[in-house]
Amino acid sequence: MRLFVATHNRHKIREISQILPGFEIVADDPVGVEETAPDFTGNALIKVRAIAARHPGEWCMADDSGLEVKALGGAPGVRSARYAGEPTDTAANNALLLKNLEGVEDRTANFTCAVALVDPNGREHTVEGRCYGRIALAPSGAEGFGYDPLFIPDGRDKPFAELSPDEKNAISHRGRALAEAVKIIRGKKRGGVMAWLRLFRAVNLPTVPGDVFVGAAAALTTGGLAASPWLDLGWSARFLSPVWWAAGASVFLYMFGLVHNDIRGAATDKDRPIPDGEISMDAALAAATACLGAAGLCAWAGGLLAGGLWSSVSWPRYALLLVVAIVSYNRFKQWWMMGACRALNVVAGAAAAGAVNSRVLCAAVIWWAYISLVTLYSDGEESDPAKKRSVGFLVGAIVYLQLGALVMLALAYPNVSGIRPLLIAGAVMLAALRLMKQLLPRVSAS
Ligand code: IMP
Repeated sequence: MRLFVATHNRHKIREISQILPGFEIVADDPVGVEETAPDFTGNALIKVRAIAARHPGEWCMADDSGLEVKALGGAPGVRSARYAGEPTDTAANNALLLKNLEGVEDRTANFTCAVALVDPNGREHTVEGRCYGRIALAPSGAEGFGYDPLFIPDGRDKPFAELSPDEKNAISHRGRALAEAVKIIRGKKRGGVMAWLRLFRAVNLPTVPGDVFVGAAAALTTGGLAASPWLDLGWSARFLSPVWWAAGASVFLYMFGLVHNDIRGAATDKDRPIPDGEISMDAALAAATACLGAAGLCAWAGGLLAGGLWSSVSWPRYALLLVVAIVSYNRFKQWWMMGACRALNVVAGAAAAGAVNSRVLCAAVIWWAYISLVTLYSDGEESDPAKKRSVGFLVGAIVYLQLGALVMLALAYPNVSGIRPLLIAGAVMLAALRLMKQLLPRVSAS
């Protein structure tokens, strides 16, 4: 992972590279930037903001550090580099420090390092690390830089300059601050549940099985009912019916499509979990493969459980067609291809329920037209809040149409208990959708 670091100090770059071995450290000197803040964190922020402006969409980092000596009221503090005046002269700084501490008994001191990060979304994070110790009576050692020959960390009897780089990094202020910074970067990189919910646009997912249920409903009201034995199964077996497995396969294929789309756009998309670094490319590829596998498994399991029925519903054929439609949509971004994906769900649902007839195909064409037109209309919604609202309404209408289809079914067949799980699924889907829209607005961003 690439990390731009605001410094020209090669010692710091070396230390940072040692402490963060998995990162590609790119130094960027924030030339001309005045470190005018009264504290380390303020100065780190000034520096990181200067370079973040040059590297949008990347992780950027700056640190500001210094030595604080108790007997000197916290000096040299933010002026550590220029303690003996400008330009920076390390030997002069050390000599001045020793001079100012002549005859002083309490030589307690600490190094402080503030790290400021700007994440690929432009959000700022700050952390601090400290290392406590004391100032030696005379310099010794050749490792490190700056005040290292004079600073003896607590628990040791020799200064930083006599410790190996690894020994210093394990206890140093910079080592500690960077360990915290890495937690932020990796924490974001690994992403939490939220990152995965965003990747799978969780708010929109429940509408996918809805397509399949609409197809099943259309089939059951137009001849599928008699032909389909699945409504006559017991309660638990009903949940093993091909319709549920078709719905599962559709959901997994849709999830595959979303990851595939984000992988394709990883270099150009903004505010998505992969370019944000919240989900790594490897994890995304693994997720895409897992979704494809799970979809295949659903189709296979559905066929296995349905036995004779499955051979007639030919769901796997629809799954394959769906993969082609999804990949084509991601590649060509044609509005009518999105409609085709969703219409295929309807046909698959009808097939799983046992009847693909002309009325089912009619429903699929209407579904295709509606979703295609909404997709066409939604172009440019990001920059137009009014359009975004109406697209939200039109997309919401799909869910109501799905529920409507289920309610119609229940009314048409009041005695068919098998409708109930469909209705419950629809209601849960709608409730989940509404709740998620309210609770997780970022998840719905597409
Ligand atoms: P800056 O963080 O580049 O503004 O400069 C910090 C200054 O504090 C350095 O030039 C050093 O004089 C001192 N300093 C910061 N960290 C260390 C360290 O690990 N060892 C020795 N001196 C340090």
